[in-house]
Amino acid sequence: MAAKVLVTREIPTAGTDPLKDYDVTVLGDGVPDRETLLEAASGASAILSTVTETMDAGLMDAAGSGLKVIANLAVGYDNVDVDAATERGVVVTNTPGVLDETTADTAFMLLLAAARRLGEAERLVRSGGWEAWGPMQLTGPEVSGKKLGIVGFGRIGQAMGRRARGFGMRIFYDARSRKPEAERELDARRMSLEEILSTCDFVSVHTPLTDGTHHLIGAAELATMKPEAVLVNTSRGPVVDEAALAGALLEKRIFAAGLDVYEEEPKVHPKLLELENVVLAPHIGSASIETRGAMAALAAENLVAVMRGEEPPNAVNSDAHGDAL
Ligand code: DGY
Repeated sequence: MAAKVLVTREIPTAGTDPLKDYDVTVLGDGVPDRETLLEAASGASAILSTVTETMDAGLMDAAGSGLKVIANLAVGYDNVDVDAATERGVVVTNTPGVLDETTADTAFMLLLAAARRLGEAERLVRSGGWEAWGPMQLTGPEVSGKKLGIVGFGRIGQAMGRRARGFGMRIFYDARSRKPEAERELDARRMSLEEILSTCDFVSVHTPLTDGTHHLIGAAELATMKPEAVLVNTSRGPVVDEAALAGALLEKRIFAAGLDVYEEEPKVHPKLLELENVVLAPHIGSASIETRGAMAALAAENLVAVMRGEEPPNAVNSDAHGDAL
């Protein structure tokens, strides 16, 4: 009998085609509720999950002792309890490398849109309220030649830096270790987070969500930013304290923000929804057709590798292999 594979959401066929040898259940297009998920997971040997499903101990136990792999269709895997998986010998995999350029595109798009007030501008046109061109109308800070601070200088942060170089921006980064190669390529300089926040015109957050990065940018940090600064977050919502950010934007303590991620998705802090100086996107960082196909294909490749007893390309808990491989 073919092993049971649960795919928690409808995904591009590049992710389901490679699963033809298995007994595959694909849940619908929407986010499955917990009960549906627990029921569907029962007896599964493999789960291909997305960021909207919490993969915790309860879910793993509902799947049962035959569960070998959770292949998350995302580079971030804060929705998966990796320790619980490791304890159960379940391999957890993610999809790094295939979404860097697309996510950096989104970050730069938000940077430009927030600086140049694209959200407000579009709302003005659509409302019929645009009466004429105006010399003072909807002006925002110039992007070209300004200082960009990149918080988290991994693959996506560096891809953001490449875009910024095309705009003649000067690059500063905060990372746990120095990145000499990227420094050379982007003429980038490492700085502390404090220095970045107090000196950069634009700050873009690209760090994963961990215990150490929760509310990394909070009220105290926002207070040190320049009044003309723009903050962009395409990493994970809880890295920025949303209530503190709404306060800083409301009081114009910073110029604007561009957000793709939120603390409690799909909820957005109600104060942010009322503000003109924030551009809000619905977690579309990696949402190009090509990239979502590549992510789905890589998640499936990881899943199939574990099912075959092979080393998957992107295990995040290699220590779980003992049981699963
Ligand atoms: C990721 O890959 O972590 C994204 O947030 C999902 O698009």
